[in-house]
Amino acid sequence: MSDRYTALQSLLDERYTCRAFRPDAVDRDTIESILRLAQRTPSWCNTQPWQLVVTADPAATDRFRKALLDHIEGTPAQTDIPFPTAYHGVYRDRRRECGGALYQAVGVQRGDHAGSLRQMLRNFELFDAPHVAILTTEADLGAYGAVDCGLYLTSFLLGAQSLGVATAPQAALATYSPFLHEYFEIPAHRQVVAGISFGYPDAGHASNSFRTTRAELDQVVTWA
Ligand SMILES: Cc1cc2nc3c(=O)[nH]c(=O)nc-3n(C[C@H](O)[C@H](O)[C@H](O)COP(=O)(O)O)c2cc1C
Repeated sequence: MSDRYTALQSLLDERYTCRAFRPDAVDRDTIESILRLAQRTPSWCNTQPWQLVVTADPAATDRFRKALLDHIEGTPAQTDIPFPTAYHGVYRDRRRECGGALYQAVGVQRGDHAGSLRQMLRNFELFDAPHVAILTTEADLGAYGAVDCGLYLTSFLLGAQSLGVATAPQAALATYSPFLHEYFEIPAHRQVVAGISFGYPDAGHASNSFRTTRAELDQVVTWA
């Protein structure tokens, strides 16, 4: 394998969803380097439908975190883009496996509803990250605009990883899309895709102690 294949493979292998961050800020130059790199993402007709709101200052992240936590209490979920309606078969199995690995890592037993709620709420604490990016797409571009944003997300995650910055992509943040529109003045024609909490990892934290698996090729490829 070429050095370039190996370099990309290392980034893909090393990256994981970080669910506990240290408080130290990522400097503005580093954040901009991640964003510049992610700008190279391909998109249909080169529309580049992604836009982001980024909290560069940890104090701004803290204000948002607090406002979000205050907001979610008793507020029904509302997303701009419909969430999955069901997880059947292998999708249910894989979802269970990764959720189970997280709960096992943090010591939440099966049936411990308070414990699993507590872990779920960590999403809205942004896992203590010093920064968050809210990723939106253009409503008119429909599913393919969201696909382009998904590609962008991967570029962002890998770009961050290449600079030692850990990330947590979070569709959970889209659960309260109307609040995000209001708080960050995101216009109605933009749709919230996901948030990305980012910063330096709290490497010793239990929630960062497990890694997910991937299916074998024969489960995803049909050779014709
Ligand atoms: C679009 C997207 C949304 C996600 N939303 C959440 C989320 O809301 N909360 C969370 O803890 N993880 C979230 N994840 C992380 C996934 O659970 C994670 O990527 C998957 O289990 C594979 O694990 P890994 O990222 O550690 O390799 C999301 C990932 C993606 C790509």
